[in-house]
Amino acid sequence: MNILEGKVAIVTGSSRGIGLSIANRLADLGAKTVINYSSNPDKASEAVEAIKRRGGTAIALHADLSRMEEIEKLFSETLAAFGKVDILINNAGLMINKPLAEVTEADFDKQFAVNVKGTFFACQQAMKHMENNGRIVNFSTSVLGQMFPAYSVYAGTKGAVEQFTRQLAKEFGPKGITINAVAPGPVNTELFTVGKTEQQIEGMKKLNAFGRIGEPEDITDVVEFLVSEKSQWVTGQTLRANGGFI
Ligand SMILES: NC(=O)c1ccc[n+]([C@@H]2O[C@H](COP(=O)([O-])OP(=O)(O)OC[C@H]3O[C@@H](n4cnc5c(N)ncnc54)[C@H](OP(=O)(O)O)[C@@H]3O)[C@@H](O)[C@H]2O)c1
Repeated sequence: MNILEGKVAIVTGSSRGIGLSIANRLADLGAKTVINYSSNPDKASEAVEAIKRRGGTAIALHADLSRMEEIEKLFSETLAAFGKVDILINNAGLMINKPLAEVTEADFDKQFAVNVKGTFFACQQAMKHMENNGRIVNFSTSVLGQMFPAYSVYAGTKGAVEQFTRQLAKEFGPKGITINAVAPGPVNTELFTVGKTEQQIEGMKKLNAFGRIGEPEDITDVVEFLVSEKSQWVTGQTLRANGGFI
């Protein structure tokens, strides 16, 4: 069913990983979809072509979400291409895990710039340009409930995202726009797998109820609910999609 027919969606960081899965789903549900990338133009173009082959509508737009002017450009180019914005998925993010003594200023600034500043100012653009009854989905992490060593900066960025998701719900409410966060547990993408041993990954599987790592589609299923009409009464919330990890 094309439940998103006539809608326009921006999915940040959607050339790969969870973002790509979400962009595919939203396009398959009928939304005109913007695939945003920062460093992977080829993967973004491949994703657009695949959506078009399935009969959907998508374009790829470059924007580094750590930069205000590029966030503004992402919205202005979307408006130029599709005329409006109904759905914003603030998926772009990065994680640099180090014990406290080893964290550099650059590690700190880079994670806060994309995960916090990028998400916040994309929400600001949505406040200026999003249609009434739109949908915003931000990205947190279930690591906030596990408190693993070496995740302090990353968890700090997502704590900020969860808090301003709660705060902004009442600013978006008068327009009928909902804003929620999804907090995945470990998901099978480069962000989670790169730098981990098989043994570490096996250990992570044992921390949830089902004994496996999440797949991007597990998260996309939750996002599909949050962008649908069925979620109108849900706003300012964080949904922990983690198989019982916390
Ligand atoms: N995987 C997990 O276990 C997990 C768990 C909890 C939460 N999350 C959250 O879920 C979201 C997606 O993660 P993922 O696992 O799919 O990560 P991923 O596979 O590493 O993909 C990250 C995406 O973010 C984009 N990105 C990074 N820096 C960017 C920037 N400056 N501007 C625009 N886009 C940028 C990347 O784009 P390019 O490739 O074009 O650079 C890429 O598409 C993140 O917010 C992450 O924190 C993931």
